[in-house]
Amino acid sequence: MSYRNRVITVFGGSGFIGRHLIRRLARSGAVVRIATRHPSKAAFLKTAGAVGQIVPLAVDVRRDDSVARVIRESDVVINLIGILHPQGGWDFATAHVDAPARIALVAKAEGVERLIHVSAIGADANGTAEYARSKAAGEQAVLDAFPEATILRPSIVFGPEDQFFNRFAAMAQVSPFLPLIGGGKTRFQPVYVGDVAEAIANAAGDPASKGRTYELGGPKVYSFEELMRITLREIRRNRWLVPVPWNMAESLGGLLEKIPLIAPPLTRDQVELLRRDNVPSGTLPGLADLGVAQPTMVEVMVPTYLVRFIVGGTYTTTRKIRGQVPE
Ligand SMILES: NC(=O)c1ccc[n+]([C@@H]2O[C@H](COP(=O)([O-])OP(=O)(O)OC[C@H]3O[C@@H](n4cnc5c(N)ncnc54)[C@H](OP(=O)(O)O)[C@@H]3O)[C@@H](O)[C@H]2O)c1
Repeated sequence: MSYRNRVITVFGGSGFIGRHLIRRLARSGAVVRIATRHPSKAAFLKTAGAVGQIVPLAVDVRRDDSVARVIRESDVVINLIGILHPQGGWDFATAHVDAPARIALVAKAEGVERLIHVSAIGADANGTAEYARSKAAGEQAVLDAFPEATILRPSIVFGPEDQFFNRFAAMAQVSPFLPLIGGGKTRFQPVYVGDVAEAIANAAGDPASKGRTYELGGPKVYSFEELMRITLREIRRNRWLVPVPWNMAESLGGLLEKIPLIAPPLTRDQVELLRRDNVPSGTLPGLADLGVAQPTMVEVMVPTYLVRFIVGGTYTTTRKIRGQVPE
């Protein structure tokens, strides 16, 4: 699909999904504005396009005038702003509800044609996790202001910079065990970041996606425990998989989220989120409806970037061969 000479503004464009999306949009010929708090940190993406094609712009999403300045004369606006835990004075309401509401209101006022809002599977107004409730409230606020907006809800997203496989592989470097929160039975349908970027780009160019909500899951469902075993197999490490009961995980999350100055590896809200499966409901359209017919398998892509965790590199001969993970 060609977006030649169309202007697309992406909020949160320097993040994990954002950087893959920007490269995908650049190939389509669009002029891409990256609306970000730190334009200098998004500068590395400028080389993804021709000179002047990718433009990082500073924005304060708490201010209407700032948001209007980056959106003005855009054909498409895409919102990727999201947080996993409150940070830097931002809580879930600010990041997941106020920011998208403001972006949607301004996009409508500026006559933007298409608005794509990235939410998450599990968004639920009655959810027990604040993350889930704030994602649901954000979706509603977007639709109130911009009823033709398209909402995409991915399951966990994997790719070279992900915070899932990389995090647990890093943990296995220093820890003799990996935790199985709540026994490790929670189910996920991980989706490749390149497929999510493709789906977002296709949605922006497909009038049939207006006003619709999509759930994005990859080709296969895995339990948390299975994902830990894949991680250990790919980095060729033997580590104990230790079941952590829900109440103990909650206490641990409560402890870790109180440590100042670090991004907590686990919070009580994340434990709450883990209590529910993170898979598409089957009642909403998905990747195939957005032109991604053959989504990428975990087993194909994850080994390509977890290789950096293998002691000695890919071609090392080690005692810990593939598949030897303790039961
Ligand atoms: N990754 C996943 O597994 C996954 C799964 C389901 C849903 N999602 C959703 O997909 C979207 C993108 O996810 P991602 O993984 O790409 O996230 P990410 O790498 O953390 O990037 C999100 C972007 O949000 C912006 N942001 C973060 N904290 C902010 C704050 N306090 N104030 C203002 N902006 C802030 C940042 O933009 P700047 O720094 O450029 O300002 C950042 O680039 C999010 O809405 C997320 O909830 C992700």
